[in-house]
Formats: sequence, structure tokens, C-alpha cells
Amino acid sequence: MYWIQRSRFAIFLCIILYMKSAAPAMAQTGGLAATPPMGWNSWNHFAGKIDDVTVRAQADAMVSSGMRDAGYIYINIDDTWEGERDAKGVIHPNSKFPDMKALADYVHGKGLKLGIYSSPGPQTCAKYEGSYGHEEQDAQTYAEWGIDYLKYDLCSFKKMMDQAGSPEAAHRTMLDAYTKMHRALQKTGRPIVFSLCQYGADAVWRWGESVGGNLWRTSGDITDKYSRMTEIGFSQAGLSRYAGPGHWNDPDMLEVGNGGMKPGEYRTHMSLWALLAAPLLAGNDLAKMTPETIALLTNREVIAIDQDSAGHQGDRVRAEGPLEIWARPLADGSKAVGLFNRFDWPMEMRLEFSEIGLTKRARVRDVWSAKDLGGMEGGYAAQVPGHGVVLLRISPE
Ligand code: GAL
Repeated sequence: MYWIQRSRFAIFLCIILYMKSAAPAMAQTGGLAATPPMGWNSWNHFAGKIDDVTVRAQADAMVSSGMRDAGYIYINIDDTWEGERDAKGVIHPNSKFPDMKALADYVHGKGLKLGIYSSPGPQTCAKYEGSYGHEEQDAQTYAEWGIDYLKYDLCSFKKMMDQAGSPEAAHRTMLDAYTKMHRALQKTGRPIVFSLCQYGADAVWRWGESVGGNLWRTSGDITDKYSRMTEIGFSQAGLSRYAGPGHWNDPDMLEVGNGGMKPGEYRTHMSLWALLAAPLLAGNDLAKMTPETIALLTNREVIAIDQDSAGHQGDRVRAEGPLEIWARPLADGSKAVGLFNRFDWPMEMRLEFSEIGLTKRARVRDVWSAKDLGGMEGGYAAQVPGHGVVLLRISPE
């Protein structure tokens, strides 16, 4: 009897200690974004030409294309929705968005979530109304509308930082501004994903979580070109230790389906973003997708790598000039590996299993061709197309 009571007490103690150790991280991120957020954002394709009708059409297409069922949940309105403040300082949408609450209801009715955009400065990057001096009021308004995600873009807040007097004071000023909005969002009681956008300034990955960020942009804007996409993607080397459940590095939204890259280059884009545990925010017109674009965006095995529950971001294993090998440890003990050829012509690439911490024999699966290649001894070599990738899932035998 005495022993039973003692062991019960020991189990109870372990649970309390575990809860205490997990508490700070959970409190900061509010339990949100346990895996990198997936959804769609209006900016890359529509920029300023976004309105209520278009957003509803994107929500419809998210469902009918099968993207929602593949995991894409957020419908995020970027810049240019903002209207004027009324006499009480309450923000209203402009005429492109007649009724934000009705739009949120529509999106929620489809099993999706709605995101919005603002700036800590007086103006957004497209010169619309920002949240400066109205943080709590805006957070409250978003919560009343039923908003689930906020992208908070530095933009004109740079002026406040320049006035701070020193680089250290400017840095503090920026952190305070992000913390202020984080607290305002928390105060609403509504779970709202907080996305920091300040283009990676001051090594945001080191402090993004401490100001309440669930994700933070690590770079300037992506464009629909292989050169820019890979410039950003491959510059993420070394950042893996800063990402994890609730707080992610964000190398910017996807360009898949926008037409500026070849299919093999978009495959590189998806593979690299999945290895990076990057948010997957489609940036194309979902209402006008080819079957190839849908297949690229909804590949279940690629998404499973991105959304792996262990939440370890991948990192560079080796670069031999433009031939790069990246790997990501997965929850089941296997590794996702990308053999990337940044040359414009095909090249043979070889991975030794020892380079990714595996012993001699391993089972290899080619993810994009969905083929088990069987057990291999020592390593694996493949022909990789120019600007292309061979994405593998390798498990110890
Ligand atoms: C940029 C941001 C883009 C987009 C744009 C809107 O600063 O990086 O992703 O949000 O502003 O004006």
C-alpha cells in the first residue's frame, strides 16, 4: 500500500514538473501554430487589387481544389484593406471590403480562418492606415470581426526607430512595438496568430519569440523568379535552431502557380520550404489553378515533411558550390533530404548516409515520384535536374 502511494506521488510530481517546464513556451505562443501555418495570402498575386469578392472566391477555391483538406486553413488579406478611423478612433475597412465581420463569417463557414494585415507605424507599406497609437483598439476590432491571424509589417515604423537616437534605442523601440501588439492581441482573449514582418532586421530569429511572434519573416520580399526564391531559401542556413512548435522562421510566401518559374523550379521551392519548416502560404490565384499547380501545392508527402510534429527545421548538410544537400530530422526517426542542383544543367549528386547521422544501411524513398527505392548500402546517388531537386525520405534499416 505504502509503495503504491509513493509511486502515485512520484508520478504526480513528474506531471507537475513537466507542466512547469513546458509552461513558459506555451504561454508565450499561446499554443498557436504548433506546426508552420498553412494557408493563402493575397499579396504575391493580387497586391492592391484585392477585395471582398476576390477573397470569397479564394476561400471557395481553397475548398474545391482540395487545398483545405491538405491542410491549408488561413485566408490572409494583406495590405490595402484599410479605410479610415471614425471619431472614436475605430478603424474601418475601405470600400473594397464592405463588411469584414460578414467576410469572416463566410470564411469560417467553410472551415477556414481569416487573417489580416497592419503595421506598428502610422502607415502601412502601401500607405494605408497603420496601427500606431491604436494598438489595443485595433486588436479589439480584429477580435470582434473574428480575425484569426495578424501580419504586422514594420513599414513606416522605421521613422520612429530613426528618431530613437542610437541603434540600441532603435532596436528597443522596435521590440516594444511588437510586444505592445502581442499584448493587445492577448488581451482580446481570441487566439490570433502573430506574424512579424520586418524583413529579418536585427536577427529577428533571436528575439522574435520573446515579443510573442508565432512566425517572423527572415528576409526581404520574395519574387516569382528562381534566382530570388533560391537566394532567400538557401540563405536560411544556420537558422534551424531558432524554429520550433509555436515559433517559426518565415522565408516569405509561396510563388507556386504564379507563372514565373518552371515546374521543376516550383518543385525546388516546395521542397526547400518543407525542409525549412516554413509557413506554406500560397501566393497565387487559387480560383485559376492548373492541375499541375494543385498537385504541387497539395502533395501529401511534401506537406507531411513541412508539418512534421517534431518541428525541427532542416539545415544545410554540405554545399559544394551550387550543389547543396539539406536535411531535416523527422519525428519517426527518418530524415528528409534534399539534393539541390543550382546549376542550369543536370548533375550527379551523392549523399553518404553518415553525413546525416545514419549508419551504413538505410531505406530510401523518392518523395516526388512516390517510389520506395529499397535498402541501400553506404549512400545514395542520383541525377538531379538543373535548378531541380531530388527529395528523399531516408529511414534507418
Ligand atoms: C511588404 C511586405 C510584403 C507585403 C507588402 C504590402 O513590406 O514584405 O509581404 O505585405 O509590404 O505592402
